[in-house]
Amino acid sequence: MNDMIRITGGIPLKGEVRVSGAKNAATKELVAALLTSEPVTLKNVPEIGDVDVTMEMLQGLGAKVERTGDTVTVDASGMNTSSVTDAFSKKNRIPILLFGPLLSRFGKAEIPALGGCKIGQRPVDFHTDALRSMGAKIDCSNGEYIATVPEGGRLHGTVIELPFPSVGATENVMLAAVLAKGTTVIKNAAIEPEIHDLAMLLQSMGAIIQLDVNRTWIIEGVESLHGATHRVIPDRIEAASFAIAAVLTKGDVTIRGARQEHMLSLLNNLRRVGGEFEILEDGIRAFRTGDIKSATVETDVHPGFMTDWQQPFLILLTQAHGVSIVHETVYENRFGYTEALRKMGANIQIQTACLGSKDCRYKNRNHPHSAVIVGPTPLKAADIEIPDLRAGFSYLVAALIAEGTSTITGVEIIKRGYENIVGKLKELGAKVEG
Ligand code: EPU
Repeated sequence: MNDMIRITGGIPLKGEVRVSGAKNAATKELVAALLTSEPVTLKNVPEIGDVDVTMEMLQGLGAKVERTGDTVTVDASGMNTSSVTDAFSKKNRIPILLFGPLLSRFGKAEIPALGGCKIGQRPVDFHTDALRSMGAKIDCSNGEYIATVPEGGRLHGTVIELPFPSVGATENVMLAAVLAKGTTVIKNAAIEPEIHDLAMLLQSMGAIIQLDVNRTWIIEGVESLHGATHRVIPDRIEAASFAIAAVLTKGDVTIRGARQEHMLSLLNNLRRVGGEFEILEDGIRAFRTGDIKSATVETDVHPGFMTDWQQPFLILLTQAHGVSIVHETVYENRFGYTEALRKMGANIQIQTACLGSKDCRYKNRNHPHSAVIVGPTPLKAADIEIPDLRAGFSYLVAALIAEGTSTITGVEIIKRGYENIVGKLKELGAKVEG
């Protein structure tokens, strides 16, 4: 597979693109399918690297996993091991979510060291603390986890208050709580649309799960779950990326499948900086009418501005008139990618102070989590190496407006999360090879 993309900038993106299913819902829902020995069918599953790795991981545990087009069926009746092999170590962050399914099926779970994008420390203490409070015994050595259930063979419900509304920790507790004894309450939980989607699948499988006020999920454990069919929500990160690229390149792109309800904060910010959009029955059309204006954007948990929208949006701000600020409040170190943008001509400074209107948990902790962008600066083509998934897409977006031909390597990382990215960009008229 070609690990390099060449993009010649200067062409407005025009036309229609269909957004694929959400990576961060589909991968978790594949894991949820292990909670029952009946078949679970997922539709709208994207063909991306992270889904492939997750499917292989389930097969490695003895589940039958079959894909036909965008439909994947998991039959976990033949699951035969509680151990995720080292082959899946450091590939992505999905193995940590296997505690619930493995503990409920085998009373034991062996999970190898995690991977995923290098965008901060990314500890999993919230996950392990929460599962321990449900009765799991968890030992960790060299990044590997071995967990067992308490005497009696089942985790028990409890009240868990997460220190931060972590997406992964919320999902992990959900996946463990649906088959635990009694009721589990997750306070200060994540409520991202992908988590709603997971909750909907679990409910279709027989779980009793509801979202209460104040970021609280309440899950009443049941004795067993059954098969279900579920359609994965569209990927709002991919949808936003195309909307931003359309505005940035002075193009006009209809993003079929994009949902306004999942993207309110992105669309508000797009409008503030001078982007325009039209809400259609089956998607969103994004375009530009005038100059780009500077703005202050602060990332946050849902319903705030997603940390995964920050990177392409920052490219847009390099073309804004004046000084813009991006305050990253979810990850402590997610601006490493801006170095390559400076090479392309962007004027970006990274600071440790909380710039913007919020004090975040990184205040006075010396983390490089605020960016000051002065624009507009024309970008010139460069040879760049992709450091992580979302930064990777933003490099493609930067190359789309840069003067000359950029060579972008490490494209394998983008393919972990974006389906047919080269084909989709070509369809929109971009001059791209790879
Ligand atoms: N955190 C802890 N301890 C924990 C868990 C999280 O300190 O036990 C911290 C993290 O270090 C981070 C913050 O809490 O600073 C939020 O982390 P969260 O757990 O919410 O992130 P995640 O579940 O690891 C998912 C997505 C990310 C996305 C974040 C935030 C998946 C597979 N990944 O990560 O997506 O940025 O939620 O929305 O769902 C991507 O798709 O490229 C990606 C990085």
